[in-house]
Amino acid sequence: MTGPLVVLGATGSIGTQTLEVADKLGLEVSALAARKPSAELADLAGRYPDAAVAVAGGAGEERAHFTASVSNEVDFGPEAVLAVAGLPGCTVMNGIVGAAGLRATVAALEVGNRVGLANKESLVAGGDVVKRALASGGGSLIPVDSEHSALLQCLEGESRDGVARLILTASGGPFRGLTREDMAEVTPDEALRHPTWDMGRRITIDSATLFNKGLEVIEAHHLFDVDYDRIEIVVHPQSILHSAVEFVDGSWKGHIGYPDMRIPIQYALTAPQRMPTPTEQFSIVGLDLTFEEPDRENFPALDIAFEAGRQGGSTPAVMNAADEIAVEAFLHGRLGFLGIPEMVSRTIDSVEWRRPETVDDVVQVDREAREVAASLIASVC
Ligand SMILES: NC(=O)c1ccc[n+]([C@@H]2O[C@H](COP(=O)([O-])OP(=O)(O)OC[C@H]3O[C@@H](n4cnc5c(N)ncnc54)[C@H](OP(=O)(O)O)[C@@H]3O)[C@@H](O)[C@H]2O)c1
Repeated sequence: MTGPLVVLGATGSIGTQTLEVADKLGLEVSALAARKPSAELADLAGRYPDAAVAVAGGAGEERAHFTASVSNEVDFGPEAVLAVAGLPGCTVMNGIVGAAGLRATVAALEVGNRVGLANKESLVAGGDVVKRALASGGGSLIPVDSEHSALLQCLEGESRDGVARLILTASGGPFRGLTREDMAEVTPDEALRHPTWDMGRRITIDSATLFNKGLEVIEAHHLFDVDYDRIEIVVHPQSILHSAVEFVDGSWKGHIGYPDMRIPIQYALTAPQRMPTPTEQFSIVGLDLTFEEPDRENFPALDIAFEAGRQGGSTPAVMNAADEIAVEAFLHGRLGFLGIPEMVSRTIDSVEWRRPETVDDVVQVDREAREVAASLIASVC
């Protein structure tokens, strides 16, 4: 790891697991960031009294109460989050959910930091912008998604010319095997019951629609410079094979292990070094692993995402923003489950395509897509 650790999205699923791994490795935590001045964040601040704390949101009174409840140095507003992301010489774990994480990724990379990227939305919405910041800052970008961590490790030491295909595995989510008719009435509680992974709410719903896999396809395209025709999805309900690479000579390399995010989180912090596992020892004995084609008809999110990736420019950012809005509407009972891909498609059709050149351009696209998606959803409520 390079320098002390900054944890963005510290109160979330990735953030708390990162802190658990960091404690076990004895790493110094220099800053924590989250959206709300919550009791959870105040607890974490108490556990790391030397860490600076950045809080993106919150109103006047809440902020004052938070500051009074902790002894740490505290700063508020989105700029405060960017300031800790851009502390030079740090390793930054970006566990923020949504396109809100993009500016922080860019701020961290521009000063040459090492970034552990859980926030896949950074690459989906602003892939070219992020890659430019990586190149100009001279830092590093290490994926945290278990699939991309797996691919990175499979590709280590390999020539890119030798790669035939990337095979991303998908659990299939809680509704694998259901038809659209079966899914018409599913509730948020049912969609939040993921069979193998315990994660934040947005990614869990995205795993049920398969939009999460779609986002990951675009993330893989940017991370590994592989075109969309050579990225394939295979449904593997046990989530033991995290992903695989097929090489031109017919050889495959796959990465297997527990479906436990602490493993790719630790790898993102220590790579290329390996440290003792944060989990129990894994054994392959007795496992019954199955693989099947994804059901593209009943889960249209996959083809929407492949098409968005191929269109490039603003489309992936529009798709992500629309999905964030649609997932929120579903969770609040304002949209049915099948309405999520429908609203995403309609938003993509309604927002004019362009090529975002800067972070501000991407943020503008994201904002416009959110407005369009919200009004389309309001019109069907
Ligand atoms: N969870 C997993 O196992 C997993 C696996 C692979 C990839 N990922 C990716 O990792 C990211 C985080 O997922 P998660 O499951 O950890 O989400 P989560 O549990 O919902 O946590 C999200 C975190 O982001 C913070 N946050 C939200 N908006 C923010 C803002 N504008 N500025 C600063 N902090 C902000 C939240 O703070 P508050 O608590 O104050 O709202 C919270 O700490 C997502 O991109 C997801 O796709 C997650």
